[in-house]
Amino acid sequence: MAETWQTAITSIQPNEVRVRGYDIAELMGSVSFGTAVYLILRGELPDEKTARLMDAILVSSIDHGATPPSVLAARTVASTGASLSQSVATGINSINRFHGGAIQDCAAQLARIIARAEGGNLVQAAAAELADMKSRGQRMSGFGHRVHTTDPRTARLFELAQQAGVAGEHVACARAVETAFADAGKPLPINVDGAIGAILADMGFDPEVMNGLFMIARTPGLVAHVAEEQACQKPMRKVVPGAHEYDGPPPRRS
Ligand SMILES: CC(C)(COP(=O)(O)OP(=O)(O)OC[C@H]1O[C@@H](n2cnc3c(N)ncnc32)[C@H](O)[C@@H]1OP(=O)(O)O)[C@@H](O)C(=O)NCCC(=O)NCCS
Repeated sequence: MAETWQTAITSIQPNEVRVRGYDIAELMGSVSFGTAVYLILRGELPDEKTARLMDAILVSSIDHGATPPSVLAARTVASTGASLSQSVATGINSINRFHGGAIQDCAAQLARIIARAEGGNLVQAAAAELADMKSRGQRMSGFGHRVHTTDPRTARLFELAQQAGVAGEHVACARAVETAFADAGKPLPINVDGAIGAILADMGFDPEVMNGLFMIARTPGLVAHVAEEQACQKPMRKVVPGAHEYDGPPPRRS
């Protein structure tokens, strides 16, 4: 018999599925998707407020219109007649350091600034780190946005992180970086990646899975774009960035 190897994620027996020890049939209908994502990545169930925050993180990144590189890439591939899986995978492949993948880098850069501050002034440490990065031609991950000067998702995520009691030194440091950019005469907003990076770091997430949260969140959006592309557009069209009009429902309340 082949040597066995270990996995601590899900146990499967005939007629029984247990995720991290919890019966999946009991989880179904009683916990939210964000809760289940937290459970599978962290191994434990979150408390109620943390679960709400996880759901908010996933909702915050579900889609950002037709201009992000992942959507343009997915739609372009979809227009060639590629399958749903090929098209969505192309979108996922476009989630990298500068798009959706700034979460892990941002968390690491914030940790560097916190270490540099040695318990002292975070804004000063942030300013010094930003100056060093600029001299090396590097950017601060999780800051800046092509469309938003104040990212509407960021304020809400920080509010929910505060309510959940998880906003700690990384969130404070993200704020300090924002202040340092403004003080230097170059105000750059914390974008959704930056907010998620700061919050996940304060929650103690493994850096290696941080960008995965964005991929999990954005997949429904990519599926919707690919399905719309194949249903409504002609094959092999030129997908011109930005040359689109929104024709969905007008603003409404949930
Ligand atoms: C998102 C991003 C690509 C948008 O860029 P943009 O609005 O098109 O801005 P540009 O690339 O034209 O840069 C404009 C100026 O701002 C600076 N800048 C923009 N984002 C910066 C950042 N995160 N850190 C430092 N400087 C930044 C650029 O160096 C440039 O400076 P200059 O005018 O002195 O040359 C950019 O802000 C960025 O690379 N951010 C970091 C990666 C990131 O967070 N990605 C996730 C996006 S949701």
